Amino acid sequence: MTRPARACIDLHALRHNFQRVRQAAPGSRVMAIIKANAYGHGLLRVAQSLPGADAFGVVSPEEGITLRESGFDRRIVLLEGLFTPDDIALVAGYHLDIVVHHASQLDMLEQAAISRPVDVWLKLDTGMNRLGFDPDAAANIVARLQSLEQVATVRFMTHFACADEPDNDTTAVQSDRFNRALDMLEGERTLANSAAILAWPDTCADWVRPGIMLYGASPLAGERAAALDLQPVMTLKSRLIAINACRQGDAVGYGGDWRCPEDMPVGVAAIGYGDGYPRHAGSGMPVLVNGRRAGLVGRVSMDMICLDLRGHDSPAVGDEVVLWGDSLPVEEIAAGAGTISYELLCGISHRVRLEYTG
Ligand SMILES: Cc1ncc(COP(=O)(O)O)c(C=O)c1O
Repeated sequence: MTRPARACIDLHALRHNFQRVRQAAPGSRVMAIIKANAYGHGLLRVAQSLPGADAFGVVSPEEGITLRESGFDRRIVLLEGLFTPDDIALVAGYHLDIVVHHASQLDMLEQAAISRPVDVWLKLDTGMNRLGFDPDAAANIVARLQSLEQVATVRFMTHFACADEPDNDTTAVQSDRFNRALDMLEGERTLANSAAILAWPDTCADWVRPGIMLYGASPLAGERAAALDLQPVMTLKSRLIAINACRQGDAVGYGGDWRCPEDMPVGVAAIGYGDGYPRHAGSGMPVLVNGRRAGLVGRVSMDMICLDLRGHDSPAVGDEVVLWGDSLPVEEIAAGAGTISYELLCGISHRVRLEYTG
């Protein structure tokens, strides 16, 4: 017996979205961002389905090692680089690239006895004020890196704060700062995440780093994925496990703060915040029951949600419920729950089965 909560992963859609990256950035190599278990979609299956990716970007060394041990021989980049000096042996042994974003990482590299030199992506902070060196220090740091026998090739990266807002000129300012700092320096460059690939094509440079667009969610504020020719990869599904004939005035769920305005059928679907469905989803949040919209009623529980089934023709226990994905954009659910699609996709919990098609 298996619980019906499952995330159906459409690998055909993933490959379509990858082609969309190629089309939008024809002159760039692609570092597919598959950190956080490929945004919840399953690290290895996603990596296996992207034979055209020139590199993979992950954050945890464990994900890098898993990829290498599974036979991937492409470039694998640790986007936050070294966390402790002990990581260096692993990075060198598993032939992983590292981002260097902080002086402490330079020190770790400098002091390391290393079996082979590693490729470095020097991160410059061009305005996000999160990770990276001051662009004005780039030349000095490059000189220091290039003097180290622990370092092979140096490449350059920065990350945009506002690329999802096509009218916000912060991206142009950051891009300009990056390129000016590197004016006299040789080396491959990468700036663009998904939003920049689509909205700021001039920033595509030698490498692009798409994440969310590979998974078929829109990276641009106010823009639907379908309008950008992106296809949803994950469809989160479950089934009705009860239908209650409620009476006018009956209170539904914890706290009893939603009351039935009339006699009505209330469905119970086997999915809740313990699966990664957002607890902040309020009454009226759409779900699909047999392909037709129904609204959430009452509070989201750990394992269940309740649904207003008025107007649905003979709903039955076992009927399919879609929480997001095909025909119900994850962006719509995220906006209704006061979050972003990234958080919903990454937040799918271990008890949701991943089922692959395509
Ligand atoms: C350094 C870096 N590059 C690229 C990405 C991919 O961003 P997106 O998913 O918006 O395309 C991320 C994701 O957060 C990132 O941290």
